[in-house]
Amino acid sequence: MAQQIPRFISRRFRQQASLFCRFSAPVPRPFAPPPKVPALRRTYASTGESGPNPNPGQNPFKIWPFVAIFAAGTGAYVLMVNQRIDMAPTDKKQIPAPKKGTPTFSPDKVTVLFVLGGPGAGKGTQCANLVRDYNFTHLSAGDLLRAEQDREGSEFGDLIKDYIKEGRIVPMEVTVQLLENAITDVVRAAPSGKGKFLIDGFPRKMDQAIKFEETVCPSKFVLFYDCPEEEMQKRLLNRGKTSGRSDDNAESIQKRFKTFVETSMPVVDYFASQGRVVKVVATKSPAEVYKETKEGLEKRLGKIF
Ligand code: C5P
Ligand code: MG
Repeated sequence: MAQQIPRFISRRFRQQASLFCRFSAPVPRPFAPPPKVPALRRTYASTGESGPNPNPGQNPFKIWPFVAIFAAGTGAYVLMVNQRIDMAPTDKKQIPAPKKGTPTFSPDKVTVLFVLGGPGAGKGTQCANLVRDYNFTHLSAGDLLRAEQDREGSEFGDLIKDYIKEGRIVPMEVTVQLLENAITDVVRAAPSGKGKFLIDGFPRKMDQAIKFEETVCPSKFVLFYDCPEEEMQKRLLNRGKTSGRSDDNAESIQKRFKTFVETSMPVVDYFASQGRVVKVVATKSPAEVYKETKEGLEKRLGKIF
């Protein structure tokens, strides 16, 4: 059953439609051997017509147009690359990494231990013991920020006040600069040009950690005081009766806990992943926690540090 397909339909569609019609024809046709079809030549070979090769024995496939196109393309590409050699890179991946700052202090001369733990974990109390016994200089990031907040003429006073009240982390440039200034004062005053520092409550955020280690001084490790929130809350509310701190109240304490879990714990995890954390359980009495602190530090630094 021959079916006519309109001429305006594309050739490919007509081929497919004709195939479909052949397979869907309802009347079975008796078997007949297929008619002999002369070997077809591909149309792009020379003349554009199908049909037997008019020059048998000679390869009809012309290679030179391809060689010419390839040569022209390669030439244009080389030209383009040469022209762009001096251009500024536009691809993000090609932008050179920002130059890392060289730390101001070498760890050979300046020993830095970061002291971390939730608010009320007992960092300040334990640092005071270590200062007494091992001659460290204690730098509390929170104390430095409060002093800057109260300093007459400080351009950051109001900003620091708001951040502390809300239990949020003050932009790192401020805190890192205050710490660097404090370290510089101590090292300059020391005849040996050396110093040993406990940096308490710092780094509380990853950017602080990276900025400090890249530009001020690489730290030895983190001394981490681990304490449950209920215990810390009890201590802070108790301290709030006399501390006069704007953030030792129930509302600010909750915000500080949240900041600690979400922003500061990742810093502890980061140092832990590098094997740079000495962890001390901080629930017991100050004397017992100090005993554990000394043991942890001695294991790491030896008897004399
Ligand atoms: O350590 P401390 O509890 O004294 O910190 C008080 C407040 O100071 C924090 O809640 C935070 O607002 C601010 N701070 C900071 N970055 C630090 C340390 C303290 O922004 N590294
Ligand atoms: Mg403190």
